[in-house]
Amino acid sequence: MMKRSRLFMIGSLTLAIGACTKPPQTAVQKAEALLAQMTLDEKIGQMTQVDSEALTGREQDIAKYFLGSVLSGGGSNPSKGSSSQAWKDMVAKLDAIALQTRLRVPLVYGIDAVHGHNNVDGATIFPHNIGLGATRDPEAVERAARVTAEEVAGTGIDWTFAPCVAVVRDERWGRSYESFGEDPGLVSTMGAAAVRGLQGVDLAAPSSVLSCTKHFLGDGGTTGGKDQGDTRADTATLRKLYLPPYEAAIKAGTQSIMVSYSSWNGMKMHARHDLITGLLKDELKFRGFVVSDWAAIDQISPDYKTCIEQSINAGIDMVMIPHALAAPPPDAPPGTAKLNTYSDFIGDLKELVAEGKVPTSRIDDAVRRILRVKFELGLFDARKGSPELFAAIGSPEHRAIARDCVRKSLVLLQNRNRILPISKQAKRIGLTDKGANNLNVQCGGWTLDWQNFNGLTLKGATTILAAVKAAVSPQTQVVYSPDGTGLAACDVVLAIVGEDPYAEFKGDRQDLNLDAPDLQAIATARQSGTPVVAVLISGRPLVIDALLASCDGVLAAWLPGSEGRGVADVLFGDAKPTGKLPCSWPRSMAQIPVNAGDANYDPLFPCGFGLSYE
Ligand code: BGC
Ligand code: BGC
Repeated sequence: MMKRSRLFMIGSLTLAIGACTKPPQTAVQKAEALLAQMTLDEKIGQMTQVDSEALTGREQDIAKYFLGSVLSGGGSNPSKGSSSQAWKDMVAKLDAIALQTRLRVPLVYGIDAVHGHNNVDGATIFPHNIGLGATRDPEAVERAARVTAEEVAGTGIDWTFAPCVAVVRDERWGRSYESFGEDPGLVSTMGAAAVRGLQGVDLAAPSSVLSCTKHFLGDGGTTGGKDQGDTRADTATLRKLYLPPYEAAIKAGTQSIMVSYSSWNGMKMHARHDLITGLLKDELKFRGFVVSDWAAIDQISPDYKTCIEQSINAGIDMVMIPHALAAPPPDAPPGTAKLNTYSDFIGDLKELVAEGKVPTSRIDDAVRRILRVKFELGLFDARKGSPELFAAIGSPEHRAIARDCVRKSLVLLQNRNRILPISKQAKRIGLTDKGANNLNVQCGGWTLDWQNFNGLTLKGATTILAAVKAAVSPQTQVVYSPDGTGLAACDVVLAIVGEDPYAEFKGDRQDLNLDAPDLQAIATARQSGTPVVAVLISGRPLVIDALLASCDGVLAAWLPGSEGRGVADVLFGDAKPTGKLPCSWPRSMAQIPVNAGDANYDPLFPCGFGLSYE
């Protein structure tokens, strides 16, 4: 662990606050003393967060603009690949530049570790939140978050944009899998558990990372499940459905909160003083800092300066700015608007302060919050991590915890003729379709890449196919046929079907029926009279009447991540299914949205449903 010399800073602080004053002790006092030394440029720098990819080739801008934070958005991987070493080196290099500045204020470094340290090749990948919601086990969620924190800290990173505490009310939404479920109580319990796991008992510990509870407020309630859309609800409904997880996360100690791209009743959340300052900071007494989402303030107005004025005055403390160049990329469609850059932001905000449109007191409040959290994180003493934490990334112990989460997340929807559990002594087991031998499908979006389309190799991961092979007796023949042909004379066929990976708005769907090739492969496999068990890999409920009719067993496995063995544990009876649906399962597209508590509630399976073995 690299120790930083604090002498220079403490010395100058003492000078600044006068010889008779005692040196600052608490994080609050230290932040106050440091703030008192800062110029406006230094303060605005702290409020600026830039994407690592945008800084490629202009890393010295970190020192030039006194940047307070760098993030790596989905796909902004180190130029030297995605190994844990490459990540650790990149973060250390960028942080060292921040320490060249006059006041040596360290970076707080953000990343989307949303199901394990998912940008790192070789990390332990956990089920996405929807699967964790199905475990109904907050202790398992806390353990998962602890492992995630240790792996994140292992690479020297101190901040993850998690947990997402969206309450998903419409499964057409492409971010449904980032939600623990449709029930505010369930999401509150799981979100608070995740905060505890990430931040640990002491935020300053080398293995604790800052959590970022997101996306405030009402992201899961947009009309039609449209990502970044509009949540139309009266105040009472907004508070009842979407606020409880924030109250729980604040109680659990979350020290940062990200604002949602979405709007409430037609007005962008990023401009809402009533909710960010009024509700979150004044009423709920949130003491941490509020960060904007990726270029999200840009959506407030066509005039960037107005966007900055409104968002900062609404109460946003740090602004996420992904772009370095004003010109849109050469392949952008004609007419693509100019991109707003961090130098635009910094210049405009400075002007706004000079013009009196953003009060200095607002700037000071923002910077005070950011600095206090940096002190509480212990960043002025050392970066996160240790050789031990680095070495434990993707360790067998961590994977065992993820495997346990997978096991507990599986929801048994149908088990005709007690087809499950399958005997490990079966003579011949068939496997078909896209999810059987495909880590992209098994992990879903936000895995080494934002959308995670194809060709994912992930060090140490186990596919469901490999897990089945490892589970059965040496005499059992396991036959894999992607299209379902050649599976005659099998005792059982496992059809691993579901969704291709996606993230955010790219996953918004009007049609949640299974793909035709999936259904075709099952029909082909069935021709020989073989019973079929469908393992559904999906980020949300799909329309499955055809599947229920054609398969004896149906197991909802969500997006299980790197530990395919957890799926095999349940298929072969080493563990009984205990998962319960975290959301209602619709009968048809026409029935969506369907949520517990609706008048005439009549889903295919109610929220909370889940069979087990005798
Ligand atoms: C980034 C993501 C980000 C998304 C927002 C992508 O290019 O990689 O991190 O969430 O843009 O639209
Ligand atoms: C997403 C956030 C994410 C951020 C940084 C945004 O597009 O909405 O959830 O944390 O990008 O990658």
